[in-house]
Amino acid sequence: MGTMIGIIGGSGLYEIEGLQDATWQSVASPWGDPSDDILTGTLDGVKMAFLPRHGRGHVHSPTTVPYRANIDALKRIGVTDVISVSACGSFREDMAPGDFVVVDQFIDRTFARDKSFFGTGCVAHVSVAHPTCPRLGAACLEAAQDSGITVHQGGTYLAMEGPQFSTLAESKMYREVWGCDVIGMTNMPEAKLAREAELCYASVAMITDYDSWHPDHGEVDVTQIIATLMGNADKARDMVKKLPALLGSDRAPCPHGCDRALEFAILTQPQ
Ligand code: ADE
Repeated sequence: MGTMIGIIGGSGLYEIEGLQDATWQSVASPWGDPSDDILTGTLDGVKMAFLPRHGRGHVHSPTTVPYRANIDALKRIGVTDVISVSACGSFREDMAPGDFVVVDQFIDRTFARDKSFFGTGCVAHVSVAHPTCPRLGAACLEAAQDSGITVHQGGTYLAMEGPQFSTLAESKMYREVWGCDVIGMTNMPEAKLAREAELCYASVAMITDYDSWHPDHGEVDVTQIIATLMGNADKARDMVKKLPALLGSDRAPCPHGCDRALEFAILTQPQ
């Protein structure tokens, strides 16, 4: 089977560069309309698809992003490997604004989103003990390093509902009590849905701020995030360009089983 890399771009990343035969395609899904059309093309001989998570013009809030339609649409057009790129806040002094983190764990505190493709009629429970694909994460780490980005391997991402940022008490609890490294509003339920869709998923968090816990930095605000994002988005575009050569166009079954996640997960008897 051939590789098709799907990039879900967060705030600041609304397109990717250098695609051959670039076309914006509308993809229909029974789960509703995806956030936007999907930009497809080829980069270094590898098929690519790009979906702006918030839509061009940033029209979907973290709560209203159609996560199920997005993952389903990527699956339908043949994506095998999903890479999420998103802005986040940092809970660690040594993970500074401008740095990237290849996230490998999540705490899901979102509560107002549809989180599964399964329910009445077909019941399935997939494992998300290891919610990201180590093979894909390693490629992202290498691509970021090759682009000269300060990148951290591994980190726990607190997914919050938003749209407001955290209170100081929440920020301190996530950092001091729960041991989280970064915070964002969009990677859940995206990662869980990618697993249910048997897609490899990796998440690259681009740090824009220190949330609200840091005594030497003020409260987080959108102006500060946008200023850091402008630099981050250029770095993210460089990283994306390196991914096709690292992943290649031929694809063996995932060594971690992401592409077989439903094998032992469905409880409902076939009709
Ligand atoms: N996205 C960017 N910075 C964030 C923060 N501090 N909290 C939640 N989402 C964010």
